[in-house]
Amino acid sequence: MKIISICGSNRKKGNTAELLHALETGLKNADIPEMKVKKISLSDLHLEPCRACLKCKKKDSCVVSDDFGKIITQILHADLIILGSPVYFSDVSSQVKVLIDRTISLWHTKQLKGKKLVLVAACAESGTEYTIETMKHWAKAHEMDLISTIEGKGEKKGDVLKDEKALNAVKNSVELIKKCFSPES
Ligand SMILES: Cc1cc2nc3c(=O)[nH]c(=O)nc-3n(C[C@H](O)[C@H](O)[C@H](O)COP(=O)(O)O)c2cc1C
Repeated sequence: MKIISICGSNRKKGNTAELLHALETGLKNADIPEMKVKKISLSDLHLEPCRACLKCKKKDSCVVSDDFGKIITQILHADLIILGSPVYFSDVSSQVKVLIDRTISLWHTKQLKGKKLVLVAACAESGTEYTIETMKHWAKAHEMDLISTIEGKGEKKGDVLKDEKALNAVKNSVELIKKCFSPES
C-alpha cells in the first residue's frame, strides 16, 4: 500500500506536520502489510500557480514546467493521499491552493477518480471547518473517495499534540484506513 503524505505548511515541524506525523506513526503501528509512506512538503517544491491556459484539456497533462509533474506522478501511484493544510484566514494555505488548482490538468479525464483521501487541517483558534470544506470541494470535483478528516488546534509548533480531540481523530482515521484497505473490504 503506497501512501503519499503532503504537508502544505511552510513551518517545518509545525502543527500540520505533527498531525501528519501522528497519523503516519499510527498507520505504521497498525501493521498494514507492505505499507510505504512518501512524505512531501510543498514548501520544498517549486510550484507555480495555474495559468488557466487550459492546454491540459488537449494534452491531458500540465504544460507548466516545475515540480508539479514530480508530485503528480507520486499522487497517481499512491493508494492513499493524505493532504494537510494549516488554516490561513479560515482557508487552505496558498501552497495547497496552488496544488489544488494545478490538478485541473487531471480533472478533464478524471484521473483522480476513486483515489482514497484523508484531509488534515491545523488552526490556532478556529477555521478548520472551512479549510476542510475547501479541500472537500476539490475531492468532490475529482470524485475522490474521502475516508476521514482530522482537525487540530495549536498556535505554537507542536501545540496540536495537546489537542485530545485531534489525537482521537487521528486514531479513528487509522482504524478507518485499516478497514478500507483490509482484504475483506
Ligand atoms: C497567514 C496566516 C493566517 C492564519 N489564519 C488563521 C485563522 O484564520 N484561524 C486560526 O485559527 N489560525 C490562523 N493562523 C494560525 C495557524 O493556522 C496556526 O498557527 C496553525 O497551527 C499553523 O499550522 P502550521 O504550524 O502547520 O503552520 C494563521 C497563520 C498565518 C501565518
